[in-house]
Amino acid sequence: IQPGPLTGKKVVITAGPTYEAIDPVRFIANRSSGKMGYALAQAAAEAGADVTLISGPVALTAPIGITFLKVETAQQMYDAVMSHLAQTTVFIGCAAVADYRPADPAPTKLKKSAKDDLSLQLRLNPDIITAVASSGERPELVVGFAAETDDLQHYAQQKLQHKGLDMIAANQVGDGLAFGQDNNALEIFWEGGHKSLLEAPKLEIARELITLITERYHAKNSI
Ligand code: PMT
Repeated sequence: IQPGPLTGKKVVITAGPTYEAIDPVRFIANRSSGKMGYALAQAAAEAGADVTLISGPVALTAPIGITFLKVETAQQMYDAVMSHLAQTTVFIGCAAVADYRPADPAPTKLKKSAKDDLSLQLRLNPDIITAVASSGERPELVVGFAAETDDLQHYAQQKLQHKGLDMIAANQVGDGLAFGQDNNALEIFWEGGHKSLLEAPKLEIARELITLITERYHAKNSI
């Protein structure tokens, strides 16, 4: 096998949704299919990287030749990411992690009651990528995603700053865009730079993003 631009580099990628239990049979989740994150894992492996893919529950098969870990909840994803961070060069947070989980999941199936309204108390989950970016084992490049229905550039740049990231890939969502689709389009921002990737199959978008990440990595390391 020919060496690639990321040969010898460890890349950790999260993908898919998280499931947050309400009771033993119900959960809170979102429409992430894992396609974008799995495409990134494949593209990074093609570039020669030693890839670890940490995935929420999806119906996809992991690319061959990578390390694969399946998790369900945001807390499990956090624990898996943190315990696989050593010697990581690039972290890419593509998972649609639930910001909140039911505060007190019921041990047995909740029964229907006569009341019209039912409320669920939610508790904040750990922010995985913020923890990665501020960790003592911080990878050299921490790349996040931003899924936005409105004001894409504003919210993406805010997340880039607040989460302490090196780069953020923003996709417009809602109206049948990005989540679950075979195609995607990205607006990518980093300090002092921006690039648009026009709509294309997720594997093509993933290959372009990995190329951009490789360029940023080399730019950062040539100073
Ligand atoms: O899976 P697909 O169907 O292919 O769809 C792909 C996608 C739309 C899910 C993907 O391209 C995408 O946008 N992923 C991020 C979705 C998201 O949750 O974005 P966010 O703007 O809420 O989060 C911002 C960043 O913080 C993300 O890198 C996210 O992984 C991270 N995060 C969020 C919350 C949390 N508790 N921990 C985190 O690490």
